[in-house]
Amino acid sequence: MTGSGTAVVGLQWGDEGKGKIIDVLTPSFRAVVRYNGGANAGHSVVVGGKRFALHLVPAGIFHPGTAAIIGNGVVIDPIAIMKELETLEAQGVDTSALVVSTRAHLVLPWHKAEDEAREALLAGPDPDAPESGGAPEKAIGTTKRGIGPAYADKATRSTSIRAGDLVRPDVLREKLRSTARFKNAMIRALNPGAPEFDAEAIFQSLQPCAARLGPHLADTPYLLHTLLRSGGDVLFEGANATLLDVDHGTYPYVTSSSTCALGIPSGTGVPSRAIGDIIGVMKAYSTRVGGGPFPTELRDATGDRIRERGREYGTTTGRPRRCGWLDLVAVRYAAMINGASSLSLMLLDVLAGFDELRVCTAYKVGGAITDRFLPDAHDLAQVEPVYETLPGFAEDITEATTRAELPASALRYIRFIEEYIGLPVGIVSVGPDRK
Ligand code: GDP
Ligand code: IMO
Ligand code: MG
Repeated sequence: MTGSGTAVVGLQWGDEGKGKIIDVLTPSFRAVVRYNGGANAGHSVVVGGKRFALHLVPAGIFHPGTAAIIGNGVVIDPIAIMKELETLEAQGVDTSALVVSTRAHLVLPWHKAEDEAREALLAGPDPDAPESGGAPEKAIGTTKRGIGPAYADKATRSTSIRAGDLVRPDVLREKLRSTARFKNAMIRALNPGAPEFDAEAIFQSLQPCAARLGPHLADTPYLLHTLLRSGGDVLFEGANATLLDVDHGTYPYVTSSSTCALGIPSGTGVPSRAIGDIIGVMKAYSTRVGGGPFPTELRDATGDRIRERGREYGTTTGRPRRCGWLDLVAVRYAAMINGASSLSLMLLDVLAGFDELRVCTAYKVGGAITDRFLPDAHDLAQVEPVYETLPGFAEDITEATTRAELPASALRYIRFIEEYIGLPVGIVSVGPDRK
């Protein structure tokens, strides 16, 4: 008997409501596995009106019968995960089902310092182009959680430390020493006033993390294969989202990992043929946090209204999210890259009360019309959205529990999406709560 994998992935620029879907689906699975990203993610789960924010801990943690696995593809900030576990436990959540890959790389203080310093340097005026009156905004608008520098070190190899090293004190101490020598030279160049890193102090600060995480460390690829071989089904929890994917997103305004379903095999050690359903999660409109092109962005009262109705403020950084109409060109591209088999349409309730709803079905670029997404940030910044206008719905739909209870215009909106993307909408979400 062989179990199968189901993936939940974001089809836009993040915050589509993946956490809610993971929480709802978890009871049918033996394990929920994060495969990418780190504490840049912010996945909300609302249970009976109580809101929980997950950053590193899989959103399946509320069901203790299911293993909550952090796979090898994730970068773990050991201090952040300790705090997250403490917060969850203080809220009465049982975290004993957590499993952490020995091969996940660590985010250490120098990664966060480098993330900050790079962003500050890139946001400032360009000394080589004083006539421009300051360089155009080159900063990515990262979450400053050290994600980019941590993945860069993983690829560089000589200056990265993995979760398994936490419980090998001699190895850890030596790696911290040699890496700190290198990082001190680098941070001085980036930010001459920055304080030096003290390897021994970092070693000491990691000791409580080693004690806390040690019992949860495991060889997760073997664990997952054993589970699947025994007939257990596994749910993969995507973090960030497809348009932020380092290869397939709006580069360079992306994060540093493989965020879409293509990242699951490398981020977990589970081969792609074990993955069956791929659920693409999308909002009924678009949002984006940080820099980068966003063709359907609304910098007006309509955008503000979506932000207020959808409570569109970052789960991780609290930043107001940029809001706009649904971009179906972008979502269809993301569904294609993932090989999505169905869609979860989230936050449809937020669109109640608009007379008309606009959806972007093509782009105008250089006088031509195209329905292809242009993932290169420079190209995407040149496009102008082409909209279709659909009738809005006035009714509050937050109490609807079946499609039959939705107003005709809401049903028409859903059908339009299904037809354009060529996939069924399997779940329609009309409120943050699990119910
Ligand atoms: P994630 O990063 O994809 O897990 O999404 P976030 O948790 O960052 O952001 C989604 C936000 O929408 C959270 O505040 C959720 O509680 C909320 N949410 C999820 N589904 C719905 C929905 O159907 N309606 C409304 N109004 N809010 C929702
Ligand atoms: P969830 O899992 C929304 C964005 C950041 C920034 C860019 C790079 O909650 O959907 P990073 O810190 O990763 O180097 O930042 O990516 N970003 C997200 N935006 N939701 C997320 O995760 C995000 N993770 C990263 O805002 O623009
Ligand atoms: Mg989020």
